[in-house]
Amino acid sequence: MNPQRDTIQFVLNDKLVTVDFNSNPELKPTTTVLNYLRSLPFHKGVKEGCAEGDCGACTVVIAENLNGKLSYKTIDSCLVFLPMIHGKQLITVENLADPDVLHPVQQEMVNHNGSQCGYCTPGVVMSLFGLYKNHHKPEREVIEDSLTGNLCRCTGYEPIIKAAEHACSCVDTDKFTIHENQIIAMLDEISRITYPLEIKTLSQKYFKPFTLADALLFRKTYPTATIIGGATDSALRQTKKHEVLPEILDISGIEELDYFIEDETVYKIGSGTNLEKLKSLIVEKLPALHKMLKVFGSLQIRNLATFGGNIASASPIGDMLPLLFAYKAKIKLQSADNERIVPIGDFIKGYRLTSIQNDELITEIEIPKPDSDTLICSYKVSKRKHLDISTVSGGFSLRLENETVKDIILAFGGMASQTKRATQTEEFLRGKAWTRKVVEEAMEILASEFLPLSDARSSAVYRSLIARNLLLKLFSETTTSGL
Ligand SMILES: Cc1cc2nc3c(=O)[nH]c(=O)nc-3n(C[C@H](O)[C@H](O)[C@H](O)COP(=O)(O)OP(=O)(O)OC[C@H]3O[C@@H](n4cnc5c(N)ncnc54)[C@H](O)[C@@H]3O)c2cc1C
Ligand code: FES
Ligand code: FES
Repeated sequence: MNPQRDTIQFVLNDKLVTVDFNSNPELKPTTTVLNYLRSLPFHKGVKEGCAEGDCGACTVVIAENLNGKLSYKTIDSCLVFLPMIHGKQLITVENLADPDVLHPVQQEMVNHNGSQCGYCTPGVVMSLFGLYKNHHKPEREVIEDSLTGNLCRCTGYEPIIKAAEHACSCVDTDKFTIHENQIIAMLDEISRITYPLEIKTLSQKYFKPFTLADALLFRKTYPTATIIGGATDSALRQTKKHEVLPEILDISGIEELDYFIEDETVYKIGSGTNLEKLKSLIVEKLPALHKMLKVFGSLQIRNLATFGGNIASASPIGDMLPLLFAYKAKIKLQSADNERIVPIGDFIKGYRLTSIQNDELITEIEIPKPDSDTLICSYKVSKRKHLDISTVSGGFSLRLENETVKDIILAFGGMASQTKRATQTEEFLRGKAWTRKVVEEAMEILASEFLPLSDARSSAVYRSLIARNLLLKLFSETTTSGL
């Protein structure tokens, strides 16, 4: 029997911090890192703009020991509960400078007039710091991507991009590199103990296991606990809906769920793999998924959000699901006593409804390698290109033989209360010539298959038009006989 562990530890800049929730009644296990920092003296640099991951004013950097090197990630601190940073280094804007010398990213912001009103600036600086630690002489596309999650209404970004180009062109010899081994030693000491954290306060129970076996036991014992992968969906229940989450099962610290492996026929992806890591691993292996991840949220969101979390949310506008239909993916569900593999079509049951039983976790996503003659395409239509939720998205699979449709999957997000295939249109197209005339007929069937909603993002008529036009786009991108 393990002794109960109910305090968390992390390194705040360069100091070891222990938080005991029972002797700090002003802190809850679900206090966000943002609110924790702002409760401290001398840590008011981090700002709250939106409290929902959209503005980046709360950006901080966390560092973790990855095979003997620190790996740095920008995150939105408004979405992260304190125990999620147990065993990590939390770096804030106050600590970037050496006492008398600004960090290169700060100095270049000054040199290029990257700040005016200054509200967004600490978050922007932390995003530039994350860029600096991860990239030397990055392409402009990489710089822009690192700033997608930071809204600045004053400077117009060009000075900030210039600051990034200059800062990241120098060799990284900052104090974080110099002190890396000391920080790693501190983090290793915290992570030496691997039995779970069990934080119990008057109103909340927060469980943080570090092994899958422990996680499955907690899941069995506390079947109604809210599961936290990256918390980019779940945290909003607290920050926006002001719910008190009474029981939380935080699986963000389970390394066993963070992997990407492939054999001859299939890719197997651990459900805890974050979307930024996934994006970097699949550029050539799963190009349609990579294309979708390039327009998924922001870097801060992708650094937190897990593959499993997106699928479990079963949102009708979740970006991964239509594609997983096109890839004929399978979801592995495990409980303490059992495991099963469910095709994605059977996994999604309705509006935010899945076939997960209340003692199960998603542990793996299997994506069969597409046959060489099968084309998979992804499309996302949203009001803004970046950091926006889909109005309509499509995940399509097409196999042609002699310009005739052998097989086709047309899966849509945003067109119904759940991700849905256009089965009648697929049926109509199978066996037919892949010509514009046939596709135009199919577009009419497609329109009649869905009754989309009108909401703040779009009217039903517009959604219907997009869906039809996405089919035409698929045709125009795949036809060899011309339009
Ligand atoms: C600013 C912002 C932008 C976003 N942009 C996009 C976008 O472009 N496209 C998009 O699709 N989504 C977007 N999202 C939504 C969200 O980021 C994603 O759905 C994300 O993938 C959720 O993953 P997570 O790990 O953070 O989930 P969490 O919030 O941790 O969990 C979400 C749900 O899944 C359950 N869950 C998590 N992991 C498991 C598991 N292993 N087994 C069983 N259940 C589990 C939880 O109980 C919870 O119900 C955005 C969110 C924000 C805040
Ligand atoms: S406060 Fe806006 S992203 Fe966190
Ligand atoms: S400097 Fe004012 S919002 Fe960015």
